[in-house]
Amino acid sequence: MQMEKLVSLCKRRGFLFQSSEIYGGLNGFWDYGPLGVELKRNIKDAWWKDMCQNHNELLAPPGAPSTYEMVGLDCTIIMHPQVWKCSGHYDLFHDYMVDCRVSKKRYRFDQVRGKWVNRDSQRVFVTTMAEPDHEEEDLTRRALKIFNLRSKDLEKLSFDSRVLTLDKIQSEDRALVLGPDANELGTLTDPREFNLMFKTYVGALSGEEGAAFLRPETAQGIFVNFKNVVDSTRIRVPFGVAQVGKSFRNEITPRNFTFRSREFEQMEIEFFCHPNASAGWYQYWRNRRLQWYKDLGLAGERLRLREHDTDELSHYSCGTADIEYAFPFLPEGEYGELEGIAHRGDFDLRSHSEGKLDPKKRPLEVEINEHGQPRHRGSGKDLSYRDDLSNERFIPHVIEPSAGADRATLAFLCQAYDEDQAPDEDGKMQSRVVMRLNPRIAPIKAAVLPLVKKDGMPEVAVELYGALKKKLNVFYDEKAAIGRRYRRQDEIGTPYCITIDSQTLQDRTVTIRDRDSLEQWRVRIDDCVAEIEKRVT
Ligand code: GAP
Repeated sequence: MQMEKLVSLCKRRGFLFQSSEIYGGLNGFWDYGPLGVELKRNIKDAWWKDMCQNHNELLAPPGAPSTYEMVGLDCTIIMHPQVWKCSGHYDLFHDYMVDCRVSKKRYRFDQVRGKWVNRDSQRVFVTTMAEPDHEEEDLTRRALKIFNLRSKDLEKLSFDSRVLTLDKIQSEDRALVLGPDANELGTLTDPREFNLMFKTYVGALSGEEGAAFLRPETAQGIFVNFKNVVDSTRIRVPFGVAQVGKSFRNEITPRNFTFRSREFEQMEIEFFCHPNASAGWYQYWRNRRLQWYKDLGLAGERLRLREHDTDELSHYSCGTADIEYAFPFLPEGEYGELEGIAHRGDFDLRSHSEGKLDPKKRPLEVEINEHGQPRHRGSGKDLSYRDDLSNERFIPHVIEPSAGADRATLAFLCQAYDEDQAPDEDGKMQSRVVMRLNPRIAPIKAAVLPLVKKDGMPEVAVELYGALKKKLNVFYDEKAAIGRRYRRQDEIGTPYCITIDSQTLQDRTVTIRDRDSLEQWRVRIDDCVAEIEKRVT
């Protein structure tokens, strides 16, 4: 599937729009249109129901080490600034960036790629930010330009595959680097650390006293409420707390449609368990979350689970696996992260209690400043847990399945897009675009279509539409030829089309057409709501 086709469908049919488009848009921000908002809501609802609301705490799901409880939370986006000091985000949540002094453009350092290009005794490092399939082309074009050559002189150049490293750009070689949008050498600055949290100011206090941050993850709201949840619900470890909500990261180079945005939604669970049982729970959540994506349609080789190497682990993690999807905008064989499942140990509860822990030390110790004081003071509250049966007191370990609602939506859209041939009303094969979305997440569950706009058919159709609408998101359409109306629904992933025809007027039956199999069958109009409901929930 070509990504451009999906992007264009999303705009044309109202799944996704660029934010503030009439003003030229704002990079890294996206709006969900009338269909997109339904799709994303269905995904978030499916997650909430499957992980939290419909969880039966009296039965252990297959593979779970024991029974467990689940509850939800909805925390604020702006929290006490100390939260981010103790979580580690204030000190550690950064990327390296480089600026071009001439073009004034800013780049995430790890995304600047390039090669050494040699001509006779001259050599320069030509960089590019072109999309991977145009990378080579862009590099060659720029190399010819900097050496003042024509395309036919390409053999005068030799390319030497090496990546730009931090020490390279900081060394005297920097004078030989051609920035991604530069026309002259040596315009890139040294890489600088750039904190990804958005800063704001609370209340009338100006200056640093009132400074606060928009949350870069929903997780911390759960940690700081750990004691509130335990005290108010009498919940017992092991248990999980789920939260869905917006997070913000000032990404240096947002890209790939909604994949890397600056404002996005997360669906996170913090699962609290006994330290001795945490390895088993980590395995359980990895498998459980992978299966969830499969059940909703992300099957096959495009979906995989990948264990992180030790050098990839975040500052808090003693084990992380990513659920990844081979998004079509990535080069062949590359995967993008949909969700991370992290074993966070007791890092968060201890940090919020004692003060920020030093991630470089194992076992973790509170970070001490030059005056021998904790570098970032914790709340001082006891965030340990006492098991009322065994009387044991301990700091629970945390397993965190952390998913992105926007990335999941994008993956389901990519997976669903298909083109095939289907017969029109005269039996002639016609090509069609069909979004094979799982009925549970499809924005519109069924379309009600009177065959013609006369003979009493619209009246019967409107009545059925009213009955369906009370239960499900359905659509009514009486305009254009029936084949055209089917195609419009196929293109947005509506799993069922219900047609009211002349036979309906005689025997009160309607036709249901299946989007994928194209099979059609008749049901009694009075059974239609139950029939559709059974198939889409
Ligand atoms: N609490 C852990 C945490 O936030 P993360 O891997 O940084 O971990 C979790 O983020 C998920 O949030 C990612 O797997 C991804 O789905 C989503 N996510 C992170 N950054 C994002 C961005 N800039 N745009 C869209 N989704 C993002």
